[in-house]
Amino acid sequence: MAQLAEAVFGPGPDRSDLSAVARRFTHAIERCHPGSRLAYDGQGELVGATIFSPRGGLLVLSLAIVDEHLQGRGVGRAMLEHFPAARAGRNRVVMSSLDPKALRRYTKLGLAVRPCLSACGILRPGAVMAPAGAEQCSPLEGAAVVDALAREARGEAYGDDIRMWETSGDTLHLVGEEGAAVRQGGVIRILVARDERAAIRVLRAALAGVPPGETVHLRHVREGQDWALRTAVQAGLPLSPDGPLFSDEPLGRFHLPTGSVF
Ligand SMILES: CC(C)(COP(=O)(O)OP(=O)(O)OC[C@H]1O[C@@H](n2cnc3c(N)ncnc32)[C@H](O)[C@@H]1OP(=O)(O)O)[C@@H](O)C(=O)NCCC(=O)NCCS
Repeated sequence: MAQLAEAVFGPGPDRSDLSAVARRFTHAIERCHPGSRLAYDGQGELVGATIFSPRGGLLVLSLAIVDEHLQGRGVGRAMLEHFPAARAGRNRVVMSSLDPKALRRYTKLGLAVRPCLSACGILRPGAVMAPAGAEQCSPLEGAAVVDALAREARGEAYGDDIRMWETSGDTLHLVGEEGAAVRQGGVIRILVARDERAAIRVLRAALAGVPPGETVHLRHVREGQDWALRTAVQAGLPLSPDGPLFSDEPLGRFHLPTGSVF
């Protein structure tokens, strides 16, 4: 913990005072992610974290984890008491795992469950080709198109997240100004599109860009997104149950979030 604090905050006061270090962590996280909570045991060891990412009208729970030896004893409940309740104009979103404790916790927050499938595996060779007219560039080069589509498909622009994808060296696939998908290797981080035709075309473009032999990750595909499941099956990908999404409001049909960013 003390070494981690040094790495994150640089040299500072006495690192042997673990509770002081813990407080600094908590303050730093809460400053960057209002409403987030870190939980510590009596020795100052980190035992749990819930990190919220406010994005305009979206409030996304981007991390919830408790030390495996302490799970199921109310640590998660205590931290999530600070997940602000729904209010007009704000949509809470959780990208859940299949852990029964997580499913119970989020259901009790009063959020509606959106069951999901994933399509993860290796593409059948030659099964998918980029459609004519699809282009690829860096995320920042196409930021304006991504954000315009995201406002429509997801209810909020990505803003600074696009810079993060740029720094990670991700690729942006575009189908005119109708569809956009950000991909890192085999991970289709996000997809936003104007309509079903554009959504299928940009998904095919992104799948065609996956390096041969790399595992594709396409996750949190939900009701009303059969277009994505059919495209994945045609490309030879297997379907499996996935952790559901939970949200206050219905979610857009032409928006897929696979990475940590909704
Ligand atoms: C999900 C997680 C963060 C919840 O934190 P937690 O401290 O374990 O959760 P809590 O103890 O507050 O709540 C769990 C609920 O499930 C119940 N529960 C405990 N064990 C259970 C089990 N084996 N099966 C089903 N429910 C169980 C608890 O009784 C509690 O319900 P209650 O509040 O109505 O009594 C934690 O379990 C975790 O880190 N899981 C692994 C990582 C993960 O999947 N994170 C979610 C990613 S979105």
